[in-house]
Amino acid sequence: MNPLQDRVAIITGAAGALGQACVAHFSKLGAQVIAVDLDAAALQKLPSTAGTYACDLTKESAVREAFQTIHGDHGRIDILANVAGGFAMGPRVEETALDDWLDMFQINAVTAWLSCAQVLPIMREANFGRIINIGARAVRRPGARMAPYCTSKAAVVTLTEVLALECADTGITVNCILPGTIDTPRNRTDMPNADHSRWVPPSDLAIVIGQLADPDNTSVNGATVPVYGRS
Ligand SMILES: NC(=O)c1ccc[n+]([C@@H]2O[C@H](COP(=O)([O-])OP(=O)(O)OC[C@H]3O[C@@H](n4cnc5c(N)ncnc54)[C@H](OP(=O)(O)O)[C@@H]3O)[C@@H](O)[C@H]2O)c1
Repeated sequence: MNPLQDRVAIITGAAGALGQACVAHFSKLGAQVIAVDLDAAALQKLPSTAGTYACDLTKESAVREAFQTIHGDHGRIDILANVAGGFAMGPRVEETALDDWLDMFQINAVTAWLSCAQVLPIMREANFGRIINIGARAVRRPGARMAPYCTSKAAVVTLTEVLALECADTGITVNCILPGTIDTPRNRTDMPNADHSRWVPPSDLAIVIGQLADPDNTSVNGATVPVYGRS
């Protein structure tokens, strides 16, 4: 029996490195995978989806429209994996431009918050839901010149913990993973001399996200799970 058989699972950032791994793994687990990302052309190339929806997840009205359409098209939303996000190095804190600070909060924290806000009424009505957010190891081990990234991912962790409290008396769980450096093509290009074997494969992260999405996993709520590979 596939643990996610017939469950409708939205994966945001589905066209990215981790998103693609989640699409493949959730399909293997039997879910109807709904892929959401910025780029419609990139979404079209994904195999094994039950639907693709292009949407800028930083725009409240666009997120509302996309999620209402998904709900109308598929009749339910059981799982939300908020994979959309991004990273930028910057200068020191006192040299950081406001726009660069806000960009990191938009792409990491606002995308997760707006998506959660759209699915929660649907999940509350069904008294069932699994939400998995993506933080980063940088929340626990921050680096210099990356304050907007580290603090925006810290906001994702705290959002997870608040939502878990707000959902404590329901069938909804909200958890978060903290990936270490992911073995992606972009990271290999940016860090050619690193030991890539120590990085965490996207497929391993997808397995953990799938476990947090399992309907039988009823008691893990508000957790922050480190997934660092061997680094
Ligand atoms: N890579 C790492 O080492 C690492 C480490 C720790 C945590 N993480 C986190 O893990 C997640 C996945 O990382 P990844 O390496 O797979 O990143 P990725 O390949 O860049 O994938 C992220 C996806 O999200 C999309 N996206 C960005 N902004 C969006 C928006 N406003 N609306 C809709 N979609 C949007 C991107 O689209 P575009 O490409 O068109 O912008 C991209 O397809 C992210 O949350 C990231 O912060 C990554």
